Amino acid sequence: MRNPEDLGPPEKKQKLNHVQTSYSPKNVSKGSSFEELRDARRALPIYPARQKIIAEIRKFPSAIVIGETGSGKTTQIPQYLLEAGVNSGATIAVTQPRRVAAISVSQRVAQEKNTNIGGLVGYCVRFEDVTSPATKLKFMTDGMLLREAILDPTLTRYSIIILDEAHERTINTDVLFGVVKAAQRRRLKTGQKLLKIIVMSATMDVDHFSEYFNKAPVLYLEGRQYPIQVMHTKEPQSDYLFASLVTFFQIHKEAPAGEDVLIFLTGQEEIESGVKIINDMARNLKDVPELMVIPLYAALPSQTQIKAFAKTPPSCRKVVVATNIAETSITIPGIKFVIDSGMVKAKLYNPHSGLDLLKVVTASKAQVLQRTGRAGRESPGVCYRLFTESEFQSMSTNTVPEIQRCNLASVVLQLMALGISDVLTFDFMDKPAPESINSALEELVMLGALERQSNSDMLKLTPLGKQMAAFPLDPRFAKVILLAKEYECLEEILSIISVLSVDSVLVTLSSKRKECQQSHQKFMSSDGDHITLLNIYRAYKSVNGNKSWCFDNFINARNMHTAQEVRKQLREICERNGMTFSSCGRDSTPIRRCLAAGFFLNAAELSKDGDFITMANRTKVSIHPSSSLFQCKPACVVYTELVKTTKCYMRTLSVVDPDWLYEAAPTYFKRKKAAVIS
Ligand code: CDP
Ligand code: MG
Repeated sequence: MRNPEDLGPPEKKQKLNHVQTSYSPKNVSKGSSFEELRDARRALPIYPARQKIIAEIRKFPSAIVIGETGSGKTTQIPQYLLEAGVNSGATIAVTQPRRVAAISVSQRVAQEKNTNIGGLVGYCVRFEDVTSPATKLKFMTDGMLLREAILDPTLTRYSIIILDEAHERTINTDVLFGVVKAAQRRRLKTGQKLLKIIVMSATMDVDHFSEYFNKAPVLYLEGRQYPIQVMHTKEPQSDYLFASLVTFFQIHKEAPAGEDVLIFLTGQEEIESGVKIINDMARNLKDVPELMVIPLYAALPSQTQIKAFAKTPPSCRKVVVATNIAETSITIPGIKFVIDSGMVKAKLYNPHSGLDLLKVVTASKAQVLQRTGRAGRESPGVCYRLFTESEFQSMSTNTVPEIQRCNLASVVLQLMALGISDVLTFDFMDKPAPESINSALEELVMLGALERQSNSDMLKLTPLGKQMAAFPLDPRFAKVILLAKEYECLEEILSIISVLSVDSVLVTLSSKRKECQQSHQKFMSSDGDHITLLNIYRAYKSVNGNKSWCFDNFINARNMHTAQEVRKQLREICERNGMTFSSCGRDSTPIRRCLAAGFFLNAAELSKDGDFITMANRTKVSIHPSSSLFQCKPACVVYTELVKTTKCYMRTLSVVDPDWLYEAAPTYFKRKKAAVIS
């Protein structure tokens, strides 16, 4: 690690001209009394617009609401509508792209309503449902509402659906736009009670939304933003993590206690290592405020995430190290300084694997502006951008909607399960490329989830496809679970998929790299990473999730705990599907056969020159150094994860027999062979 002192201060370059208002909001902490919370509610920028919002929403079937982050859209509008009875006694659903936001916002609203979470106010996210029949304000991830629509396409139990954070344009939000719009139309046609749709966004480019929702009126909320000084670096930075730490320590040495800092990085590993370095370095500093270092990313358990919202004690400074989660969907009080890496981890479709690839890419201007805004919520602030002004100018204006850059297999399967058989003509706000839809359809046919109807070209869901759609997983993983019945290894497959569904369970500390590797060695299997993960899960179970065991073995206890929860839920879905649970004991062959059968589209073989070549489209891939097969040269593997850094790496893979692949999908491989020969 270089010494952060080496780097000079980011140069002052540009100042944003925000209008300063004379209002000084109260800082509300978690322990605030009901009266204080009520006063805080009344002090929000949205409060004066309350009557107008209620009246407009009463009047129109759909409405678009635009307002700066922190103005009170998410926490207040659902309450206003409930208090004014606009919901006619039925439940109001508020969707969020992120589970953290759904949980934290619902907890805040429950507090404001002076009730326990799960009563009047509840939340529902993947693998966790905290609602009851009494719940009238239901905060949920957009993915969960989409799943509900499969069982009830008109979403009968809701009278109002609020699609929040619409500017994020996640794949699920985009699909929900169409699904909710269709539900509204259908209810109107069949004379059921009206469904109101409210779309909320933090950015202004809303003509598109309004047009799509039958020219819905747009309500603009007065923002409240203090001036923010924006600094760019003089030179481009090659190492943004390093630059962010340098910048942080400059602030930490100079700024008084109570002025909190928010750092935008890209992902869990980076954030955890940043947090560790800050803690280590801060220990040796004198004459600086006490420091609270708080990581914030989606995979953290909610109890840990909530820490970011706590009020900072007087002699202390809070530094929140976050992903783009803190951009718009949640508001952290006390932030005076923002440090922006200008980077974001984005999901990109990888045509070589058919899987989505997580890759760190440059953020868009819209994202950078949102991040800057976080510094001026409560008082004038400063934003340090770890990139130059010309780099800023060259950023793309807006983020491309996820639906135009991700694998659509999962979405297409859900749409088919919703009864929308002609996905190509589905009413998307921005249509994905027809080729992406077609390749998703093709993938689902190969997986056996769809088949051609007799006498027509139309595709329909097979009974297998219907079962696959019940799992909140990528269709390939759902298929593997369903296949596990035949291979008699369901218990093992559930463990593996649960561990794969959470972030990395192996901890690698840069200061103890050797020790970590040695400790992880005992779990490594020569059959591949899936069996390695199974070994970890088994070892974890055998010590009953003991935390000090995790610590001693460099296993991430939090992520393992989450994996266990995920497993419980997946097992419940299997039970509902009437599946029999079976175990293959210590023999890994059935497990690998099963993985081969579900992931035959992700197979790679060793070529003569020692590289791996994917069977799907003959491209070169390598084994990731972290894989238990890194030193090995198996003839044939299947992988469930691909990452791209300098090369394209298979990160999670298993050794398989080519015959297993052939048995699983004979037509597919016959065709591939023919293509190679010709
Ligand atoms: O949705 P929008 O960004 O417009 O604002 P909001 O999420 O409704 O937040 C309004 C205010 O509620 C924030 O400025 C915070 O002061 C407070 N809040 C909080 O203290 N804790 C939360 N978990 C959420 C909001
Ligand atoms: Mg919000």
